[in-house]
Amino acid sequence: MATKTNKKAASAANRTPEAESALKELFIDEVKDIYWAEKHLASALPKLIKGATSEDLKTTITNHFEETKNHVTRLERVFAAIGEKAVAKKCLAMEGLLNEATELLTDTERGTEVRDVAIISAAQKVEHYEIASYGTLRTLAGTLGYSEAQSLFDQTLAEEKNADSLLTQVAENYVNEAAAAESE
Ligand SMILES: [Fe+2]
Ligand SMILES: [Fe+2]
Repeated sequence: MATKTNKKAASAANRTPEAESALKELFIDEVKDIYWAEKHLASALPKLIKGATSEDLKTTITNHFEETKNHVTRLERVFAAIGEKAVAKKCLAMEGLLNEATELLTDTERGTEVRDVAIISAAQKVEHYEIASYGTLRTLAGTLGYSEAQSLFDQTLAEEKNADSLLTQVAENYVNEAAAAESE
């Protein structure tokens, strides 16, 4: 007789065909969702670059814009690796985050520190959304045995985390500069 723990392990390893295909369907859906999200992010980032004032911030977002275009093509490699057509499915979360970013640009004045801070905030919300999405995707890919897809997701996940921490650095430099200016 199997112990409770063994049973649990066995059920995870021997998923029913129905459960396996439901999980696979969810996975493909999530890939389509992030594909839409990355494409739309790539088309929105130039607006944020243009809107930013600090050279530091412009450079950070420009570098990540290049990475983001690469994330789109990397997702096309994922689709190929899992034998699916590259199809984008509207991501309401990214749409909302990008609408908020546009609103922040409208609500703040060009050339001000507050606009740069607003841009950093909007960009970090996007990065956190991407980090959460790719974290789930790399785990799901592993569960489903898509090792090539998993390693592609891992590469992107590392770049999203790096972009997030670079944005934090830009924000911290701002705080330090402001403090220095005040003590002058
Ligand atoms: Fe990305
Ligand atoms: Fe990103």
